[in-house]
Amino acid sequence: MNELTIIAPDDWHLHFRDGDMLKETVPATARCFRRAIVMPNLVPPVVNAQMAMEYKSRIEAAIPAEQNFTPLMTIYLTNETTKQDIIDAKKAGVIAAKLYPAGATTNSDAAVSQLDALNPVFEAMAEQDMLLLVHGEVTESHIDIFDREKVFIEQKLQKIVQDFPSLRVVLEHITTKDAVEFVAQSSDKIAATITPQHLLLNRNDLLVGGIRPHNFCLPVLKRNIHQQALQDAVVTGSSKFFLGTDSAPHEKHRKESACGCAGCYSAWSAIELYAHCFEELGIIDKLEGFASTHGPDFYGLPRNNDTVTLIKEAWKIPDEITLPNGSSIVPFFAGEKVSWKLKI
Ligand code: DOR
Ligand code: ZN
Repeated sequence: MNELTIIAPDDWHLHFRDGDMLKETVPATARCFRRAIVMPNLVPPVVNAQMAMEYKSRIEAAIPAEQNFTPLMTIYLTNETTKQDIIDAKKAGVIAAKLYPAGATTNSDAAVSQLDALNPVFEAMAEQDMLLLVHGEVTESHIDIFDREKVFIEQKLQKIVQDFPSLRVVLEHITTKDAVEFVAQSSDKIAATITPQHLLLNRNDLLVGGIRPHNFCLPVLKRNIHQQALQDAVVTGSSKFFLGTDSAPHEKHRKESACGCAGCYSAWSAIELYAHCFEELGIIDKLEGFASTHGPDFYGLPRNNDTVTLIKEAWKIPDEITLPNGSSIVPFFAGEKVSWKLKI
């Protein structure tokens, strides 16, 4: 097969950031996706309808005129979030709320420290049919970083799912066999996004032969049996698993540092990275479901009504990209070859 035409895809989890950075991140994503779920972990975080709508306008201002793209907005849950915040957000068009356990990742200091206290908020979300998007990692310092997703599922997520059976939950950027099994066994209200890095890499790609800061993200890459479980999940073609890049830009000097930031900037080659991986797995025919139908079906949104075409053509992801502020960023899979290219 030399050409593949699929319903236009969406990215169900990414970070655009703000300010000047939007001139880089928004066109890069709009290049291949029609919609994206935009994470709210700005500084300060996007915690209510008004902030979400203002952020949406800033993103819209960065969409190139020829591109058809809609940002789907989210708010960030904190210890102070109220039922009214949920009602107001839903009315304003916010699609989902993001749960970051405090300290879990980039800009999550303001996030939730006492999950039980959020029960009235989860109840309001279920009533309003607003989705809950979860960064599924515990943050207690005595829990090993490689176990944090599994422990979160056992200690926190199972309870939320049981207590709020009508709440739709997306376990974001899953990284373990445990997460795959949890999602597969749960009701049809529970789904998961999978990133390109967690499909393509395992922790050897982070640590063998030297530390590779551009492969550092959270949840951290796990051992190869977990990578295999994620690949097996997409091979099943189950509609519970869909595309969410977690594209998360950090300037080069912030990643190549004594205390490097977590996040892989994959927007530049997102759909191609997935196509490359699906072809290696022998399931290129399942790309459309994963990239273009499972997500909107789960979110209750229409599928896109146009298509995109990928061509079988090897190309090299650039080593570096210059940002609008003049600094540089190293894209995910920099210098590597991918076997498909989006036809523009
Ligand atoms: O690697 C990550 N980077 N994981 C996250 O959860 C957040 C993201 C970011 O915002 O940089
Ligand atoms: Zn993320």
